[in-house]
Amino acid sequence: MRIIVASDHAGLELKNGLAGYIRQLGHDVEDVGTHTSESVDYPTFGERAARELARGVADRAILVCGTGQGIGMAANKVPGVRCAIVSDTYSARMSREHNDANAIALGARVVGEGLAEEIVGTWLSTDFLGGRHERRVRMIDAIDAIDAPTTEG
Ligand code: RB5
Repeated sequence: MRIIVASDHAGLELKNGLAGYIRQLGHDVEDVGTHTSESVDYPTFGERAARELARGVADRAILVCGTGQGIGMAANKVPGVRCAIVSDTYSARMSREHNDANAIALGARVVGEGLAEEIVGTWLSTDFLGGRHERRVRMIDAIDAIDAPTTEG
């Protein structure tokens, strides 16, 4: 598969390590930054990775910031992106089997490199189960198309 990786400064080191690990697993990696330890804003990189993913440049995206929270929230604003913020292998597996997550966000200040690799390895090798989960995932995607409610009336 083709995998986009992205991080802010807090996630840089883990992101770089994971990029090597993902290549070892036999995947192609596109690193959309950040590339230096200079302080940057995580929404920039969450959005950049998510937009690339949404336009079909890659199959999946793996995002890293300090907690995984901010970069994952930013990615989920882009229609078509379903980003799970995970720090354990069970959630990683279930986010594929039940939710067809096409992105995950990890926190470099939450998980160590060994656990991060297990999470990524599990997530990349787990298939969506489909079946009854298909309709629910389509319902998530349909939310993008619904206008925000107004306070009128
Ligand atoms: C940066 O200090 C930190 O706020 C960021 O990496 C991330 O944890 C935000 O969610």
